[in-house]
Amino acid sequence: MERGSLSLLFVLLIATVTSVFCFTDGMLPNGDFELGPKPSDMKGTQVLSKNAIPSWELLGFVEYIKSGQKQGDMLLVVPAGKFAIRLGNEASIKQRLNVTKGVYYSLTFSAARTCAQDERLNISVAPDSGVIPIQTVYSSSGWDLYAWAFQAESNVAEIVIHNPGEEEDPACGPLIDGVAIKALYPPRPTNKNILKNGGFEEGPYILPNATTGVLVPPFIEDDHSPLPSWMVESLKAIKYVDIEHFSVPQGRRAVELVAGKESAIAQVARTIVGKTYVLSFAVGDANNACEGSMIVEAFAGRDTLKVPYQSRGKGGFKRASMRFVAVSTRTRVMFYSTFYSMRSDDFSSLCGPVIDDVKLLGVRKP
Ligand SMILES: *[C@@H]1O[C@H](CO)[C@@H](O)[C@H](O)[C@H]1NC(C)=O
Ligand SMILES: *[C@@H]1O[C@H](CO)[C@@H](O)[C@H](O)[C@H]1NC(C)=O
Ligand SMILES: *[C@@H]1O[C@H](CO)[C@@H](O)[C@H](O)[C@H]1NC(C)=O
Repeated sequence: MERGSLSLLFVLLIATVTSVFCFTDGMLPNGDFELGPKPSDMKGTQVLSKNAIPSWELLGFVEYIKSGQKQGDMLLVVPAGKFAIRLGNEASIKQRLNVTKGVYYSLTFSAARTCAQDERLNISVAPDSGVIPIQTVYSSSGWDLYAWAFQAESNVAEIVIHNPGEEEDPACGPLIDGVAIKALYPPRPTNKNILKNGGFEEGPYILPNATTGVLVPPFIEDDHSPLPSWMVESLKAIKYVDIEHFSVPQGRRAVELVAGKESAIAQVARTIVGKTYVLSFAVGDANNACEGSMIVEAFAGRDTLKVPYQSRGKGGFKRASMRFVAVSTRTRVMFYSTFYSMRSDDFSSLCGPVIDDVKLLGVRKP
């Protein structure tokens, strides 16, 4: 008992000491917007003063939304706590955070589109910025978690989330909630794997209560990827899933290929021309009611392998491998799902096969 409270005290002390210097992984200060404006700072749902929401600075038409609030015949629900914000046309929110110069960070946030069709968000930490499409909804609640990564140019990061939209109705802007951050530690290749982060263990922060996984948006390059070393070069996102809420073949994390051939993940490995390699990986399902016949297509340079997987939607996986001879000093390893799948419990959410434990190793010629 005494020992327990002593070590708790120790943990608290460490937590306090580190937070003085730098932010540790988790929700940003008031990242879930539970601390709201004073009634005098509001007109209806609109927030009138730029410093009215603690820890944030607002620009433009920003609304403070309470869970359960109605918009037309739509009921607005909120994923983290009871409150969220909505960004009108050209509106933005920002927060300054102490970070460590040179370190890569991944931001995770929840977003939901409301009435507008083609919604996008521009996330930036100068000089980096990224436009994230949010028109494809991957969860039945309408809220999805998105990840975006940047490298800190100095010890202060000014995080800006901006709605570049120009809708006629400003109340059609995207809802934002649960903004969190995590420092990324770029993995290195080992003598057991030429690929880096092959088990997807290093990746964006997943909010503890989030049951949807985190989307890694399209057009992500490997130097600024929230999923270190991997690229998402396709048109649609891939989904990062955790063992707390999904079935994962190996370790604690995996990726779900949620949008057929439009959802591809890739990594370029250094190889020796003429040398034989084996690419091995696990193909499974995330235990998320994603049922049916699936095929994962794996590519290594010019070679391909189609791996069929019959999913009952209840978790499980199989292993596959392919042998190939490298024809270049750089071999591109890529995966996508041949088919589109839909969850059988809501018939509205895109889902797909899971891949994990991707390994590339050179072998001696037989
Ligand atoms: C951020 O860093 C500055 C300068 O080192 C320091 O004065 C400030 O207290 C820090 N802020 C937080 C929230 O840790
Ligand atoms: C996104 O925001 C950044 C920073 O404000 C800006 O430089 C960039 O041009 C914006 N991109 C788009 C497409 O609006
Ligand atoms: C997670 O959900 C539980 C129960 O709904 C709630 O008590 C808790 O505060 C939530 N935690 C976070 C970090 O939102």
